[in-house]
Amino acid sequence: MKAKLSINIGKLKLKNPVMAASGTFGYAEEFSGFMDLKKLGAVVSKTITLRPRQGNPPPRTCETPAGMLNSIGLENPGLDAFINCKLPVLVKTGVPVIVSIASESGWPEFVELAGCLDKLKEVAAIEINISCPNIRSTKHKAQSVKLISQDPKATYEVVKAVRRATAKTLITKLSPNVTDITEMAMAAERAGSDAVSLINTVTGMSVDVATRQPKIACVTGGLSGPAIRPIAVRMVWEVYRKIKIPIIGMGGIMDTASALEFFMAGASAISIGTANFINPRAAAEIITGLERFLIKNKIKDIRQLIGSVKSEN
Ligand SMILES: Cc1cc2nc3c(=O)[nH]c(=O)nc-3n(C[C@H](O)[C@H](O)[C@H](O)COP(=O)(O)O)c2cc1C
Repeated sequence: MKAKLSINIGKLKLKNPVMAASGTFGYAEEFSGFMDLKKLGAVVSKTITLRPRQGNPPPRTCETPAGMLNSIGLENPGLDAFINCKLPVLVKTGVPVIVSIASESGWPEFVELAGCLDKLKEVAAIEINISCPNIRSTKHKAQSVKLISQDPKATYEVVKAVRRATAKTLITKLSPNVTDITEMAMAAERAGSDAVSLINTVTGMSVDVATRQPKIACVTGGLSGPAIRPIAVRMVWEVYRKIKIPIIGMGGIMDTASALEFFMAGASAISIGTANFINPRAAAEIITGLERFLIKNKIKDIRQLIGSVKSEN
């Protein structure tokens, strides 16, 4: 028996539903010595902005129980250098390249970025990152910035504006740092997003008790890894019941069993993030593991698993 792993997200056809998550896979070539990159369903680029960004001052990462905190601050070379230097490297993987974009200055920057990327055949889809918790650069601003994805009206407006700028598959990446993520997912769907991806990192903080210093220079950072998995699975499950467009689930997926949780909760595809730092073969192993699970359980198509959790309500 052969199991079907292929999945469609908008116009995007993926041979399997496993992607490398934004910001956790370098520009893919770093991983070529560990796995056959062609095995991946897709690769999502580190988020880019119109102009280059240095990112936040170090220390920008630290380990936490069952996870890590990061405050990279969207370090990236900017649109032009990305197109000229990084995109060709990503394309060499031979799998669809999803380009993640963010704005330092409101929705017109999103529109400009999407408009430029729309013209490039090498770009398979665009993911709008309206959920990065690390985009402010000073301690003083740390508490004051509201994310677009913390406001359904702002989410709707940005997605609607970007939708007009591109015919490519559009994915909206949502933040877990909200009371009700389903409001944002529904706003993104109403505005024409082809899919939502969730979750970005959960805001957290760690203190070095010897020095009484925060372990991250920007004080707070984004928590990722297995520590956030139950939050992510719960949010996928909540969103699945409210929208019709596909969900790309992520947050602490480490192995096949944790990947399966996301499909059963309602994800159509998944992204592997922090696991790449611990096991650079994680994504490839999960693809093999999903196929084996389907065959062992006589399930013909991975789509039969989506939303299949036996929950009462
Ligand atoms: C070091 C690091 C950098 C990240 N950079 C980005 C980024 O540039 N854009 C983005 O949308 N998400 C970024 N993320 C979030 C991940 O893509 C993912 O949503 C999150 O880490 C949850 O998945 P995980 O627990 O499997 O890592 C980053 C995460 C980490 C750990």
